Amino acid sequence: MANGIARSGSRAADGATALLDVRDLQVHLRTADRVVRAVDGVDLQVASGECVGIVGESGSGKSTLSRTVARLMINAEFARLRGQAFFDGADTLTLEPQALRRLRRKAGFSMIFQDPLGYLNPTMRVGRQIREALSPGDHAASESERVHALLREAGLRDVESVAQRYPHELSGGMRQRIMIAIALASEPRLLFADEPTTALDATVQLQVLETLHRLHLKRHMAMIIITHDLGVVAALCDRVYVMHAGKVVETAGTLELFDAPRSPYAARLIELTRHTRADAPARGRALAQATAGSGSAA
Ligand SMILES: Nc1ncnc2c1ncn2[C@@H]1O[C@H](COP(=O)(O)OP(=O)(O)O)[C@@H](O)[C@H]1O
Ligand SMILES: [Mg+2]
Repeated sequence: MANGIARSGSRAADGATALLDVRDLQVHLRTADRVVRAVDGVDLQVASGECVGIVGESGSGKSTLSRTVARLMINAEFARLRGQAFFDGADTLTLEPQALRRLRRKAGFSMIFQDPLGYLNPTMRVGRQIREALSPGDHAASESERVHALLREAGLRDVESVAQRYPHELSGGMRQRIMIAIALASEPRLLFADEPTTALDATVQLQVLETLHRLHLKRHMAMIIITHDLGVVAALCDRVYVMHAGKVVETAGTLELFDAPRSPYAARLIELTRHTRADAPARGRALAQATAGSGSAA
């Protein structure tokens, strides 16, 4: 229980039961003059319902790792891939496009990013963008009821009016909540969140993290929080992978990492956080208070 936050499913994953099981993943990118080993032999496991952090400085390979696994960034022209990434037993790296679409559409994985504006359609009302992402199947509620429920779950109010707006008519925090609603529309079992709050003001950051934490508990949804900010990891994650130069240099329980980092790199990252982000532990506490007993709320 890091920072006194109630945890669900906070057991360390093992290969046999992992929802996501990444084995010896390498992503080498060819640029004009050299080969970048963006991801260089990474093993990573996430159990069902677990919240895992991937932390490291900019350029350490976090986004390449997650985008590769989620099959959002594979350009065989300039990327060389090796290894495997099993989601629920199927290797996402070799899935045919149709199977991949099925996985995305229903109870697979979704992703949110630092920059929602870059991923939202500027010419379409946000409600419709969420509707287009809804999972198929039998549902008692109408599509617009489902869209409104998702907006509420993502922490928005006045949802009927919000659904009618275009992305540019919303604040950064609201846009990130729209991305969250779109991500939830397919009822994912795993959510990749790549620097989900980096572009937001500190207060809004905390509120969005609180929403993610509540969703993780309520939906028993596994999450991978990708961030350069150890404060975010401290507030949300059960376990952490520390990445540096394309490799995992340490993996540990969150508290364990903060108390006694084993790698010099992780120790330096913690030191840096303490130095520049004196509020990191306080943010963890604030989040714990804000979310205490809120597992069934909203
Ligand atoms: N499209 C690309 N072409 C060439 N190099 C890239 C590309 N994307 C990322 N890289 C390089 O791969 C490494 C890892 O980048 P990235 O995965 O974005 O790291 P992080 O998300 O941790 O900041 C960096 O050295 C980066 O410059
Ligand atoms: Mg990144």
